[in-house]
Amino acid sequence: MKIYVPLDSAAVALGADEVAEAILARGGDVTLVRNGSRGMVWLEPLVEVETPAGRMAFGPMTVADVPALFGDLAQHPKALGLTEDLPWMKAQTRLTFARVGVVDPLSLDDYRTHGGLAGLERALGMTAPDMVAEVTASGLRGRGGAGFPTGIKWKTVSEAKADRKYIVCNADEGDSATFADRMLMEGDPFTLIEGMAIAGLACGATKGFVYIRSEYPVAIAVMQKAVEVARAAGVLGASVLGRGPAFDMEVRVGAGAYVCGEETSLLNSLEGKRGIVRAKPPLPALEGFLGKPTVVNNVISLASIPVIFAKGAAFYQGFGLGRSRGTIPLQIAGNVKHGGLYEIAFGLTLGEIVNQIGGGTASGRPVKAVQVGGPLGAYFPVGLFDTPFGYEEFAGKDGLIGHAGLTVFDDTADMLGMARFAMEFCAIESCGKCTPCRIGAVRGVETLDRIGRGDSGALPLLTDLCNTMKAGSLCALGGFTPYPVMSALTHFPDDFARAKEAAE
Ligand code: NAI
Ligand code: SF4
Repeated sequence: MKIYVPLDSAAVALGADEVAEAILARGGDVTLVRNGSRGMVWLEPLVEVETPAGRMAFGPMTVADVPALFGDLAQHPKALGLTEDLPWMKAQTRLTFARVGVVDPLSLDDYRTHGGLAGLERALGMTAPDMVAEVTASGLRGRGGAGFPTGIKWKTVSEAKADRKYIVCNADEGDSATFADRMLMEGDPFTLIEGMAIAGLACGATKGFVYIRSEYPVAIAVMQKAVEVARAAGVLGASVLGRGPAFDMEVRVGAGAYVCGEETSLLNSLEGKRGIVRAKPPLPALEGFLGKPTVVNNVISLASIPVIFAKGAAFYQGFGLGRSRGTIPLQIAGNVKHGGLYEIAFGLTLGEIVNQIGGGTASGRPVKAVQVGGPLGAYFPVGLFDTPFGYEEFAGKDGLIGHAGLTVFDDTADMLGMARFAMEFCAIESCGKCTPCRIGAVRGVETLDRIGRGDSGALPLLTDLCNTMKAGSLCALGGFTPYPVMSALTHFPDDFARAKEAAE
Protein backbone atom coordinates (compact mmCIF):
# COMPACT_ATOMS: atom_id res chain seq x y z
CA MET A 1 0.00 0.00 0.00
CA LYS A 2 1.52 3.31 -1.08
CA ILE A 3 0.54 6.33 1.01
CA TYR A 4 1.55 9.94 0.45
CA VAL A 5 1.79 12.39 3.35
CA PRO A 6 3.13 15.87 2.52
CA LEU A 7 6.40 17.11 3.99
CA ASP A 8 5.34 20.61 2.96
CA SER A 9 5.72 23.14 5.82
CA ALA A 10 2.03 24.13 5.77
CA ALA A 11 0.96 20.49 6.03
CA VAL A 12 3.54 19.85 8.76
CA ALA A 13 2.27 22.88 10.70
CA LEU A 14 -1.19 21.30 10.56
CA GLY A 15 -0.04 17.88 11.82
CA ALA A 16 1.36 15.97 8.81
CA ASP A 17 4.35 14.58 10.74
CA GLU A 18 2.11 13.10 13.43
CA VAL A 19 -0.15 11.55 10.78
CA ALA A 20 2.90 10.07 9.02
CA GLU A 21 4.17 8.61 12.30
CA ALA A 22 0.78 7.08 13.04
CA ILE A 23 0.73 5.45 9.59
CA LEU A 24 4.21 4.00 10.05
CA ALA A 25 3.36 2.84 13.57
CA ARG A 26 0.70 0.52 12.16
CA GLY A 27 3.43 -1.42 10.40
CA GLY A 28 2.48 -3.84 7.65
CA ASP A 29 3.07 -3.49 3.96
CA VAL A 30 3.09 0.32 3.72
CA THR A 31 5.33 2.46 1.53
CA LEU A 32 5.20 6.01 2.85
CA VAL A 33 6.18 8.85 0.50
CA ARG A 34 6.61 12.36 1.88
CA ASN A 35 5.47 14.41 -1.09
CA GLY A 36 4.88 18.12 -1.70
CA SER A 37 1.51 19.75 -1.15
CA ARG A 38 -1.26 19.75 -3.75
CA GLY A 39 -1.94 23.33 -2.69
CA MET A 40 -5.32 22.89 -0.94
CA VAL A 41 -4.19 24.27 2.39
CA TRP A 42 -7.64 24.06 3.99
CA LEU A 43 -7.51 20.27 3.49
CA GLU A 44 -4.02 19.75 4.93
CA PRO A 45 -2.73 17.37 6.01
CA LEU A 46 -4.05 15.89 2.77
CA VAL A 47 -3.12 12.22 2.62
CA GLU A 48 -3.28 10.23 -0.61
CA VAL A 49 -3.52 6.48 -1.09
CA GLU A 50 -2.61 4.83 -4.37
CA THR A 51 -5.46 2.73 -5.72
CA PRO A 52 -5.99 0.98 -9.09
CA ALA A 53 -8.28 3.89 -10.09
CA GLY A 54 -5.70 6.53 -9.18
CA ARG A 55 -4.68 8.38 -6.05
CA MET A 56 -7.47 8.88 -3.51
CA ALA A 57 -7.38 11.97 -1.28
CA PHE A 58 -8.29 12.21 2.41
CA GLY A 59 -8.28 15.37 4.45
CA PRO A 60 -7.87 17.21 6.62
CA MET A 61 -6.42 14.15 8.35
CA THR A 62 -5.78 13.69 12.04
CA VAL A 63 -4.04 10.87 13.85
CA ALA A 64 -7.49 9.57 14.85
CA ASP A 65 -8.40 9.23 11.15
CA VAL A 66 -5.43 6.95 10.38
CA PRO A 67 -6.85 3.50 11.35
CA ALA A 68 -9.75 3.90 8.90
CA LEU A 69 -7.21 4.23 6.06
CA PHE A 70 -6.67 0.50 6.44
CA GLY A 71 -10.34 -0.32 5.99
CA ASP A 72 -12.82 0.38 3.20
CA LEU A 73 -11.38 3.57 1.69
CA ALA A 74 -14.65 4.67 0.12
CA GLN A 75 -16.25 4.70 3.58
CA HIS A 76 -13.47 6.73 5.21
CA PRO A 77 -15.00 9.82 6.90
CA LYS A 78 -12.36 12.08 5.33
CA ALA A 79 -12.54 10.59 1.81
CA LEU A 80 -12.56 13.30 -0.85
CA GLY A 81 -12.43 11.19 -4.01
CA LEU A 82 -9.71 10.86 -6.61
CA THR A 83 -7.22 13.72 -6.23
CA GLU A 84 -7.12 14.57 -9.91
CA ASP A 85 -10.93 14.80 -10.00
CA LEU A 86 -11.17 17.38 -7.20
CA PRO A 87 -12.52 20.66 -8.65
CA TRP A 88 -9.48 22.59 -7.33
CA MET A 89 -7.10 20.32 -9.24
CA LYS A 90 -9.19 19.83 -12.38
CA ALA A 91 -9.57 23.47 -13.36
CA GLN A 92 -5.89 24.36 -13.07
CA THR A 93 -3.24 24.56 -15.75
CA ARG A 94 -0.28 23.16 -13.88
CA LEU A 95 2.87 23.72 -15.93
CA THR A 96 5.43 24.89 -13.36
CA PHE A 97 3.74 22.95 -10.53
CA ALA A 98 2.91 19.88 -12.63
CA ARG A 99 4.98 17.55 -10.45
CA VAL A 100 4.49 19.22 -7.04
CA GLY A 101 2.53 16.86 -4.81
CA VAL A 102 2.78 14.13 -7.44
CA VAL A 103 6.40 12.99 -7.16
CA ASP A 104 8.69 11.96 -4.35
CA PRO A 105 10.67 15.24 -4.15
CA LEU A 106 14.05 13.55 -3.73
CA SER A 107 13.68 10.73 -6.24
CA LEU A 108 15.45 11.56 -9.48
CA ASP A 109 13.88 8.45 -11.04
CA ASP A 110 10.41 9.71 -10.16
CA TYR A 111 11.39 13.09 -11.60
CA ARG A 112 12.46 11.54 -14.91
CA THR A 113 9.36 9.34 -15.04
CA HIS A 114 7.21 12.47 -14.82
CA GLY A 115 8.98 14.28 -17.65
CA GLY A 116 11.88 15.73 -15.70
CA LEU A 117 15.18 16.53 -17.49
CA ALA A 118 13.51 16.54 -20.93
CA GLY A 119 14.06 20.31 -21.10
CA LEU A 120 17.72 20.04 -20.16
CA GLU A 121 18.26 17.22 -22.66
CA ARG A 122 16.83 19.43 -25.40
CA ALA A 123 18.83 22.47 -24.26
CA LEU A 124 22.06 20.48 -24.53
CA GLY A 125 21.47 20.21 -28.26
CA MET A 126 21.01 23.95 -28.73
CA THR A 127 23.40 26.90 -29.05
CA ALA A 128 23.41 29.53 -26.29
CA PRO A 129 21.80 32.22 -28.52
CA ASP A 130 19.05 29.76 -29.52
CA MET A 131 18.39 28.97 -25.87
CA VAL A 132 18.11 32.65 -25.02
CA ALA A 133 15.82 33.15 -28.03
CA GLU A 134 13.62 30.29 -26.80
CA VAL A 135 13.14 31.98 -23.43
CA THR A 136 12.42 35.33 -25.09
CA ALA A 137 9.86 33.71 -27.42
CA SER A 138 8.09 32.07 -24.48
CA GLY A 139 7.19 35.52 -23.16
CA LEU A 140 8.31 34.53 -19.63
CA ARG A 141 8.65 37.55 -17.33
CA GLY A 142 10.19 37.76 -13.86
CA ARG A 143 7.81 36.02 -11.46
CA GLY A 144 9.42 37.65 -8.41
CA GLY A 145 7.26 40.67 -9.06
CA ALA A 146 8.94 43.12 -11.41
CA GLY A 147 7.91 41.24 -14.58
CA PHE A 148 11.11 42.02 -16.49
CA PRO A 149 11.43 39.78 -19.60
CA THR A 150 13.58 36.82 -18.58
CA GLY A 151 14.97 36.33 -22.10
CA ILE A 152 16.32 39.89 -22.22
CA LYS A 153 18.01 39.45 -18.83
CA TRP A 154 19.61 36.20 -19.99
CA LYS A 155 20.72 37.85 -23.27
CA THR A 156 22.52 40.60 -21.35
CA VAL A 157 24.40 38.05 -19.25
CA SER A 158 24.98 35.65 -22.15
CA GLU A 159 26.57 38.37 -24.30
CA ALA A 160 28.63 39.92 -21.48
CA LYS A 161 32.37 39.20 -21.71
CA ALA A 162 33.77 37.85 -18.44
CA ASP A 163 35.93 35.03 -17.11
CA ARG A 164 33.15 33.91 -14.72
CA LYS A 165 29.39 34.31 -14.63
CA TYR A 166 26.78 33.25 -12.09
CA ILE A 167 23.16 32.16 -11.83
CA VAL A 168 21.57 33.28 -8.57
CA CYS A 169 18.13 32.07 -7.60
CA ASN A 170 16.25 34.47 -5.36
CA ALA A 171 14.42 32.24 -2.88
CA ASP A 172 14.14 34.93 -0.21
CA GLU A 173 10.36 34.83 -0.44
CA GLY A 174 9.62 37.53 2.11
CA ASP A 175 6.23 38.78 0.99
CA SER A 176 3.35 38.05 3.31
CA ALA A 177 0.85 35.62 1.74
CA THR A 178 3.37 34.20 -0.71
CA PHE A 179 4.49 30.60 -0.56
CA ALA A 180 4.91 29.44 -4.17
CA ASP A 181 8.72 29.42 -3.98
CA ARG A 182 8.66 27.38 -0.78
CA MET A 183 6.12 24.90 -2.13
CA LEU A 184 8.11 24.39 -5.31
CA MET A 185 11.41 23.85 -3.49
CA GLU A 186 9.85 21.49 -0.96
CA GLY A 187 7.77 19.56 -3.47
CA ASP A 188 9.84 19.46 -6.68
CA PRO A 189 13.41 20.71 -6.13
CA PHE A 190 14.82 19.10 -9.30
CA THR A 191 12.70 21.41 -11.45
CA LEU A 192 14.54 24.39 -9.99
CA ILE A 193 17.89 22.64 -10.38
CA GLU A 194 17.08 21.82 -14.01
CA GLY A 195 16.02 25.42 -14.68
CA MET A 196 19.24 26.73 -13.18
CA ALA A 197 21.35 24.29 -15.19
CA ILE A 198 19.63 25.45 -18.40
CA ALA A 199 20.23 29.08 -17.38
CA GLY A 200 23.90 28.22 -16.81
CA LEU A 201 24.21 26.70 -20.29
CA ALA A 202 22.43 29.63 -21.95
CA CYS A 203 24.42 32.32 -20.17
CA GLY A 204 27.83 30.66 -19.94
CA ALA A 205 27.72 30.43 -16.14
CA THR A 206 29.35 27.53 -14.36
CA LYS A 207 28.13 28.22 -10.84
CA GLY A 208 24.74 28.80 -9.30
CA PHE A 209 23.46 29.73 -5.86
CA VAL A 210 20.01 29.32 -4.37
CA TYR A 211 19.59 32.01 -1.70
CA ILE A 212 16.85 30.72 0.64
CA ARG A 213 15.43 32.58 3.60
CA SER A 214 16.30 31.07 6.98
CA GLU A 215 12.60 30.83 7.83
CA TYR A 216 12.30 27.94 5.34
CA PRO A 217 14.16 25.06 7.07
CA VAL A 218 12.34 22.31 5.14
CA ALA A 219 12.99 23.95 1.77
CA ILE A 220 16.66 24.41 2.71
CA ALA A 221 17.02 20.74 3.71
CA VAL A 222 15.21 19.42 0.62
CA MET A 223 17.16 21.66 -1.77
CA GLN A 224 20.51 20.74 -0.19
CA LYS A 225 19.75 17.04 -0.49
CA ALA A 226 18.44 17.42 -4.04
CA VAL A 227 21.64 19.20 -5.12
CA GLU A 228 23.66 16.28 -3.66
CA VAL A 229 21.47 13.75 -5.50
CA ALA A 230 21.74 15.69 -8.78
CA ARG A 231 25.50 15.95 -8.40
CA ALA A 232 25.90 12.26 -7.61
CA ALA A 233 23.82 11.39 -10.68
CA GLY A 234 25.91 13.62 -12.95
CA VAL A 235 23.14 16.11 -13.65
CA LEU A 236 25.36 18.77 -12.06
CA GLY A 237 29.13 18.89 -11.81
CA ALA A 238 32.08 18.86 -14.20
CA SER A 239 29.79 18.15 -17.16
CA VAL A 240 26.03 18.64 -17.19
CA LEU A 241 24.49 15.20 -17.82
CA GLY A 242 27.93 14.05 -18.99
CA ARG A 243 27.52 15.94 -22.29
CA GLY A 244 27.50 19.64 -21.49
CA PRO A 245 29.93 22.07 -19.92
CA ALA A 246 30.38 22.33 -16.14
CA PHE A 247 27.63 23.64 -13.92
CA ASP A 248 27.38 23.19 -10.20
CA MET A 249 25.39 24.91 -7.51
CA GLU A 250 24.98 25.36 -3.79
CA VAL A 251 22.38 26.50 -1.30
CA ARG A 252 22.98 29.63 0.80
CA VAL A 253 20.81 30.68 3.72
CA GLY A 254 19.68 34.25 4.47
CA ALA A 255 19.52 35.80 7.92
CA GLY A 256 16.00 37.16 8.12
CA ALA A 257 16.03 40.59 6.48
CA TYR A 258 13.10 41.32 4.14
CA VAL A 259 15.24 43.64 2.05
CA CYS A 260 17.57 40.75 1.11
CA GLY A 261 14.83 39.76 -1.35
CA GLU A 262 15.90 42.84 -3.31
CA GLU A 263 18.46 41.55 -5.77
CA THR A 264 21.41 43.82 -4.94
CA SER A 265 20.94 43.38 -1.18
CA LEU A 266 20.80 39.66 -1.79
CA LEU A 267 24.07 39.80 -3.71
CA ASN A 268 25.73 41.73 -0.87
CA SER A 269 24.46 39.15 1.60
CA LEU A 270 25.68 36.32 -0.64
CA GLU A 271 29.12 37.93 -0.65
CA GLY A 272 29.09 37.92 3.16
CA LYS A 273 28.42 41.64 3.46
CA ARG A 274 25.62 43.50 5.20
CA GLY A 275 22.40 43.21 3.19
CA ILE A 276 21.98 46.76 2.00
CA VAL A 277 20.82 47.88 -1.43
CA ARG A 278 23.35 48.79 -4.14
CA ALA A 279 22.60 51.60 -6.57
CA LYS A 280 21.69 50.47 -10.13
CA PRO A 281 23.39 50.82 -12.59
CA PRO A 282 25.46 48.80 -12.76
CA LEU A 283 22.86 46.11 -13.30
CA PRO A 284 23.59 42.71 -11.73
CA ALA A 285 23.37 41.32 -15.26
CA LEU A 286 26.66 43.12 -15.94
CA GLU A 287 28.21 43.49 -12.47
CA GLY A 288 26.54 41.16 -10.02
CA PHE A 289 27.96 38.52 -7.67
CA LEU A 290 31.62 39.39 -6.97
CA GLY A 291 31.34 42.00 -9.73
CA LYS A 292 30.71 39.39 -12.44
CA PRO A 293 27.72 39.15 -14.84
CA THR A 294 24.93 37.46 -12.89
CA VAL A 295 21.42 36.29 -13.66
CA VAL A 296 19.25 36.93 -10.60
CA ASN A 297 15.93 35.17 -11.14
CA ASN A 298 13.12 34.22 -8.81
CA VAL A 299 12.39 30.53 -8.04
CA ILE A 300 9.24 30.44 -10.16
CA SER A 301 10.94 32.10 -13.15
CA LEU A 302 13.68 29.47 -13.13
CA ALA A 303 11.28 26.61 -12.37
CA SER A 304 9.22 27.59 -15.42
CA ILE A 305 12.24 27.08 -17.71
CA PRO A 306 12.16 23.24 -17.91
CA VAL A 307 8.60 23.10 -19.26
CA ILE A 308 9.42 25.84 -21.79
CA PHE A 309 12.30 23.75 -23.12
CA ALA A 310 10.46 20.44 -22.86
CA LYS A 311 7.31 21.59 -24.66
CA GLY A 312 8.62 24.55 -26.65
CA ALA A 313 8.29 28.32 -26.34
CA ALA A 314 5.12 28.41 -28.47
CA PHE A 315 3.35 26.01 -26.11
CA TYR A 316 4.07 28.21 -23.08
CA GLN A 317 3.40 31.43 -24.95
CA GLY A 318 0.01 30.04 -25.98
CA PHE A 319 -1.33 30.60 -22.48
CA GLY A 320 -2.07 34.01 -21.00
CA LEU A 321 -3.36 37.46 -21.67
CA GLY A 322 -1.79 40.42 -23.46
CA ARG A 323 1.87 40.73 -22.49
CA SER A 324 1.42 38.35 -19.55
CA ARG A 325 2.21 34.99 -21.11
CA GLY A 326 2.09 31.51 -19.64
CA THR A 327 0.77 30.57 -16.25
CA ILE A 328 0.98 32.11 -12.81
CA PRO A 329 0.86 30.26 -9.46
CA LEU A 330 -1.68 32.29 -7.49
CA GLN A 331 -1.26 32.18 -3.75
CA ILE A 332 -4.61 32.82 -2.09
CA ALA A 333 -4.54 33.65 1.62
CA GLY A 334 -5.99 35.76 4.40
CA ASN A 335 -9.67 35.63 5.34
CA VAL A 336 -10.66 33.20 2.59
CA LYS A 337 -12.55 29.93 2.59
CA HIS A 338 -10.27 28.03 0.21
CA GLY A 339 -6.71 29.24 0.55
CA GLY A 340 -3.76 27.73 -1.23
CA LEU A 341 -1.82 27.56 -4.46
CA TYR A 342 -3.64 27.60 -7.77
CA GLU A 343 -1.71 27.69 -11.06
CA ILE A 344 -3.64 29.08 -14.00
CA ALA A 345 -3.05 31.05 -17.20
CA PHE A 346 -3.05 34.83 -16.73
CA GLY A 347 -6.39 36.49 -17.41
CA LEU A 348 -8.87 35.41 -14.71
CA THR A 349 -10.50 38.40 -13.07
CA LEU A 350 -9.77 39.24 -9.45
CA GLY A 351 -13.43 38.56 -8.61
CA GLU A 352 -13.26 35.07 -10.13
CA ILE A 353 -10.13 34.31 -8.14
CA VAL A 354 -11.53 35.50 -4.81
CA ASN A 355 -15.12 34.32 -5.10
CA GLN A 356 -15.02 31.27 -7.34
CA ILE A 357 -11.62 29.79 -6.56
CA GLY A 358 -11.24 31.14 -3.03
CA GLY A 359 -14.92 30.67 -2.21
CA GLY A 360 -15.25 34.11 -0.56
CA THR A 361 -14.30 34.89 3.02
CA ALA A 362 -13.77 32.27 5.70
CA SER A 363 -15.78 34.42 8.10
CA GLY A 364 -18.76 34.41 5.72
CA ARG A 365 -18.86 38.21 5.82
CA PRO A 366 -18.63 40.34 2.65
CA VAL A 367 -15.21 40.90 1.10
CA LYS A 368 -13.94 44.41 1.70
CA ALA A 369 -10.49 44.42 0.13
CA VAL A 370 -7.86 42.20 -1.43
CA GLN A 371 -4.21 43.07 -1.17
CA VAL A 372 -2.46 41.83 -4.29
CA GLY A 373 1.32 41.52 -4.49
CA GLY A 374 2.42 41.23 -0.87
CA PRO A 375 2.97 43.97 1.69
CA LEU A 376 3.98 46.41 -1.05
CA GLY A 377 0.88 45.71 -3.15
CA ALA A 378 -2.25 47.81 -3.46
CA TYR A 379 -5.59 47.09 -1.77
CA PHE A 380 -8.27 46.39 -4.36
CA PRO A 381 -11.92 47.07 -3.49
CA VAL A 382 -14.79 44.91 -4.78
CA GLY A 383 -15.45 47.66 -7.36
CA LEU A 384 -12.24 46.63 -9.14
CA PHE A 385 -13.00 42.90 -9.15
CA ASP A 386 -13.32 42.97 -12.94
CA THR A 387 -9.55 43.55 -13.25
CA PRO A 388 -7.96 40.66 -15.18
CA PHE A 389 -4.87 39.12 -13.60
CA GLY A 390 -1.98 40.46 -15.66
CA TYR A 391 1.02 42.76 -15.21
CA GLU A 392 -0.27 45.68 -17.30
CA GLU A 393 -3.89 45.23 -16.22
CA PHE A 394 -3.00 45.63 -12.53
CA ALA A 395 -0.52 48.45 -13.19
CA GLY A 396 -3.34 50.24 -15.03
CA LYS A 397 -5.34 50.23 -11.79
CA ASP A 398 -2.42 51.61 -9.72
CA GLY A 399 -1.57 48.16 -8.42
CA LEU A 400 0.84 45.33 -9.10
CA ILE A 401 0.62 41.57 -9.23
CA GLY A 402 4.01 41.21 -7.55
CA HIS A 403 4.71 37.58 -6.69
CA ALA A 404 0.98 36.78 -7.17
CA GLY A 405 0.06 36.60 -3.50
CA LEU A 406 -3.50 37.66 -2.63
CA THR A 407 -4.68 38.45 0.91
CA VAL A 408 -8.44 38.69 1.40
CA PHE A 409 -10.05 40.92 4.07
CA ASP A 410 -13.70 41.04 5.11
CA ASP A 411 -15.75 44.13 5.97
CA THR A 412 -14.37 44.32 9.51
CA ALA A 413 -10.92 45.34 8.22
CA ASP A 414 -9.77 48.81 9.24
CA MET A 415 -7.98 50.20 6.21
CA LEU A 416 -6.40 53.10 8.09
CA GLY A 417 -4.86 50.46 10.35
CA MET A 418 -3.67 48.52 7.30
CA ALA A 419 -2.09 51.68 5.84
CA ARG A 420 -0.31 52.24 9.15
CA PHE A 421 0.87 48.61 9.11
CA ALA A 422 2.41 49.14 5.66
CA MET A 423 4.35 52.19 6.81
CA GLU A 424 5.43 50.48 10.02
CA PHE A 425 6.59 47.42 8.04
CA CYS A 426 8.68 49.69 5.82
CA ALA A 427 10.14 51.51 8.84
CA ILE A 428 11.15 48.20 10.46
CA GLU A 429 12.54 46.56 7.32
CA SER A 430 14.22 49.63 5.74
CA CYS A 431 17.90 49.01 5.07
CA GLY A 432 18.53 52.69 5.81
CA LYS A 433 20.45 53.48 2.66
CA CYS A 434 18.19 56.23 1.31
CA THR A 435 16.38 59.06 3.11
CA PRO A 436 12.85 58.87 1.59
CA CYS A 437 12.46 55.35 2.96
CA ARG A 438 14.54 55.50 6.15
CA ILE A 439 13.01 58.77 7.43
CA GLY A 440 9.84 58.77 5.30
CA ALA A 441 8.44 55.53 6.69
CA VAL A 442 8.85 56.73 10.30
CA ARG A 443 7.20 60.06 9.44
CA GLY A 444 4.51 58.07 7.62
CA VAL A 445 3.59 56.14 10.78
CA GLU A 446 3.43 59.41 12.73
CA THR A 447 1.29 61.05 10.04
CA LEU A 448 -1.14 58.12 9.97
CA ASP A 449 -1.36 58.30 13.77
CA ARG A 450 -2.27 61.98 13.45
CA ILE A 451 -5.01 61.04 10.97
CA GLY A 452 -6.14 58.34 13.37
CA ARG A 453 -6.48 60.98 16.08
CA GLY A 454 -8.78 62.96 13.78
CA ASP A 455 -6.29 65.44 12.30
CA SER A 456 -7.52 65.51 8.69
CA GLY A 457 -5.03 68.30 7.97
CA ALA A 458 -2.40 65.54 7.89
CA LEU A 459 -3.97 63.91 4.80
CA PRO A 460 -2.25 66.17 2.21
CA LEU A 461 1.01 65.58 4.07
CA LEU A 462 0.52 61.81 3.73
CA THR A 463 -0.06 62.13 -0.02
CA ASP A 464 2.98 64.35 -0.39
CA LEU A 465 5.12 61.93 1.62
CA CYS A 466 3.96 58.97 -0.48
CA ASN A 467 4.82 60.82 -3.70
CA THR A 468 8.30 61.56 -2.34
CA MET A 469 8.87 57.95 -1.28
CA LYS A 470 7.61 56.67 -4.63
CA ALA A 471 9.83 58.96 -6.69
CA GLY A 472 12.90 59.15 -4.48
CA SER A 473 13.47 55.70 -2.97
CA LEU A 474 16.32 53.58 -4.19
CA CYS A 475 14.45 50.25 -4.21
CA ALA A 476 10.94 48.76 -4.18
CA LEU A 477 10.63 48.71 -0.38
CA GLY A 478 10.45 52.47 0.02
CA GLY A 479 9.22 53.03 -3.52
CA PHE A 480 6.25 50.66 -3.33
CA THR A 481 5.05 51.17 0.26
CA PRO A 482 2.90 54.06 -1.06
CA TYR A 483 0.84 51.48 -3.01
CA PRO A 484 -0.93 49.95 0.02
CA VAL A 485 -1.10 53.32 1.77
CA MET A 486 -2.52 55.32 -1.13
CA SER A 487 -4.86 52.56 -2.32
CA ALA A 488 -6.31 52.31 1.21
CA LEU A 489 -6.86 56.07 1.22
CA THR A 490 -8.24 56.23 -2.33
CA HIS A 491 -10.62 53.28 -2.14
CA PHE A 492 -11.63 53.42 1.52
CA PRO A 493 -11.74 57.14 2.41
CA ASP A 494 -14.46 56.47 4.99
CA ASP A 495 -12.00 54.57 7.17
CA PHE A 496 -9.78 57.65 7.25
CA ALA A 497 -12.73 60.01 7.86
CA ARG A 498 -14.20 57.77 10.55
CA ALA A 499 -11.20 58.44 12.72
CA LYS A 500 -11.98 62.16 12.44
CA GLU A 501 -15.61 61.60 13.38
CA ALA A 502 -14.59 59.54 16.38
CA ALA A 503 -12.32 62.36 17.55
CA GLU A 504 -15.07 64.97 17.28
P1 NAI B 1 13.37 46.36 -11.36
O1 NAI B 1 12.26 46.79 -12.22
O2 NAI B 1 14.39 47.35 -10.93
O3 NAI B 1 14.19 45.21 -12.10
C1 NAI B 1 13.65 44.06 -12.58
C2 NAI B 1 14.75 43.12 -12.97
O4 NAI B 1 15.20 43.39 -14.28
C3 NAI B 1 16.00 43.21 -12.12
O5 NAI B 1 16.51 41.92 -11.97
C4 NAI B 1 16.93 44.08 -12.95
O6 NAI B 1 18.28 43.86 -12.62
C5 NAI B 1 16.60 43.58 -14.31
N1 NAI B 1 16.90 44.48 -15.43
C6 NAI B 1 16.41 45.71 -15.65
N2 NAI B 1 16.87 46.20 -16.82
C7 NAI B 1 17.66 45.24 -17.35
C8 NAI B 1 18.42 45.13 -18.56
N3 NAI B 1 18.45 46.09 -19.46
N4 NAI B 1 19.11 44.00 -18.77
C9 NAI B 1 19.08 43.00 -17.86
N5 NAI B 1 18.39 43.05 -16.73
C10 NAI B 1 17.69 44.15 -16.46
O7 NAI B 1 12.69 45.67 -10.12
P2 NAI B 1 13.28 45.07 -8.76
O8 NAI B 1 13.66 46.17 -7.85
O9 NAI B 1 14.29 44.02 -9.02
O10 NAI B 1 12.01 44.34 -8.18
C11 NAI B 1 10.87 45.04 -7.77
C12 NAI B 1 9.74 44.07 -7.71
O11 NAI B 1 9.99 43.09 -6.71
C13 NAI B 1 8.42 44.70 -7.37
O12 NAI B 1 7.59 44.68 -8.50
C14 NAI B 1 7.84 43.84 -6.27
O13 NAI B 1 6.58 43.36 -6.62
C15 NAI B 1 8.77 42.70 -6.17
N6 NAI B 1 8.97 42.25 -4.81
C16 NAI B 1 8.92 40.91 -4.61
C17 NAI B 1 9.07 40.38 -3.36
C18 NAI B 1 9.01 38.89 -3.15
O14 NAI B 1 9.00 38.42 -2.00
N7 NAI B 1 8.97 38.10 -4.20
C19 NAI B 1 9.31 41.24 -2.21
C20 NAI B 1 9.36 42.62 -2.52
C21 NAI B 1 9.20 43.10 -3.79
FE1 SF4 C 1 17.04 50.75 1.67
FE2 SF4 C 1 14.51 51.59 1.82
FE3 SF4 C 1 16.19 52.88 0.29
FE4 SF4 C 1 15.37 50.40 -0.38
S1 SF4 C 1 14.11 52.22 -0.31
S2 SF4 C 1 17.47 51.25 -0.46
S3 SF4 C 1 15.19 49.49 1.68
S4 SF4 C 1 16.35 52.67 2.54
